Amino acid sequence: MTPAKRLKELIVQDRNNFDAAFPKLIETAMAGLPSETSSAIAHFEKNIMHNLRGGKMNRGMTVLSTWRLLLSDKTPSDDEYDSAIVLAWCIELLQAFFLVADDVMDQSWTRRGKPCWFRQEDVGYIAINDSFMLEALVYRLIDFYFRGKSCYKNITRLVHEVTYQTGTGQTLDLITKPGENFVNFTLARYKAIVKWKTSFYSFYFPVALALYMHNITDAKVHDISKEILLEMGEFFQIQDDYLDCYGDPAITGKVGTDIEETKCSWLLVQALQKVDEPQRKVLEENYGVNDPAAVAKVKEIYSKLDLKSIYKKYEEVSYQKLMKLIEDVPSELPKEIFTQLAAKLYKRDK
Ligand code: IPE
Ligand code: MN
Ligand code: MN
Repeated sequence: MTPAKRLKELIVQDRNNFDAAFPKLIETAMAGLPSETSSAIAHFEKNIMHNLRGGKMNRGMTVLSTWRLLLSDKTPSDDEYDSAIVLAWCIELLQAFFLVADDVMDQSWTRRGKPCWFRQEDVGYIAINDSFMLEALVYRLIDFYFRGKSCYKNITRLVHEVTYQTGTGQTLDLITKPGENFVNFTLARYKAIVKWKTSFYSFYFPVALALYMHNITDAKVHDISKEILLEMGEFFQIQDDYLDCYGDPAITGKVGTDIEETKCSWLLVQALQKVDEPQRKVLEENYGVNDPAAVAKVKEIYSKLDLKSIYKKYEEVSYQKLMKLIEDVPSELPKEIFTQLAAKLYKRDK
């Protein structure tokens, strides 16, 4: 069997073992809690069941596939394997924490093909506390499975740092208002929002977790990885913005709200570079208005400006740029870490 085929098989196996480890989350969530909290535990279980399933699990799988690639030919011990899978769940938990809160803040309707958690009849604003619980479980799991290991400190510090970065990005996203003539919706502001709210936690974070599990702490290796992964993050969020408007909710699992929510979206930033004065006026009057007719007017301008083709061109150019960056990765890091990730992104529709 070729090494590439063997690796593919192992990654399928990892996915199955990852899925099979789900009950461990519930178990760890309950561990050590007395019966007087049993109603809270039952609610927490519902929270986990709703918010941790049905996603693409890209971030969790990136932890595992990167960890696999770095193992090379070595066979992991049972304990190493279990901890890698737990850490893959940790990043999915942190993601669920961000998303539950993000959907409240963005007033979204659906996520992963189901109504958002806060839209559930018996949830509402309880979702805020539920998001805290998902985050708290991350640290519980890391404590259970990593305390005493040499990578414990680096991993814990990284989770804290990335949570801080993502919160900073969400702040930027939420407080960026258009201002007079959309002056604040610049490409520079757009890039800053995306780097902080998405790229660190979605791309650098899973790879860095895998590096730390192998005790790879060299700053140069982390910096080179970060450079490529932040670029990928920007690519990913531009796709997310495009899909918010043009994606099929039956495939993406979510209905877009970027126009209604006055988001500094890539599409709007592009539109602002091409509009004439009357079109700009239409955008000013209709962007951020929570009414289907206003949203339709914004989309009509997008279509007149042919933003779909601009996006397709962007996707092509940006993918080539990524490939070029990956070519220059020094030999001590397997290039496949990055090529696999890029392949998953290119032309994605969900
Ligand atoms: C939010 O970005 C990123 C985080 C959750 C930190 P978006 O608000 O664009 O994400 P979606 O489109 O709701 O998934
Ligand atoms: Mn959102
Ligand atoms: Mn979005």
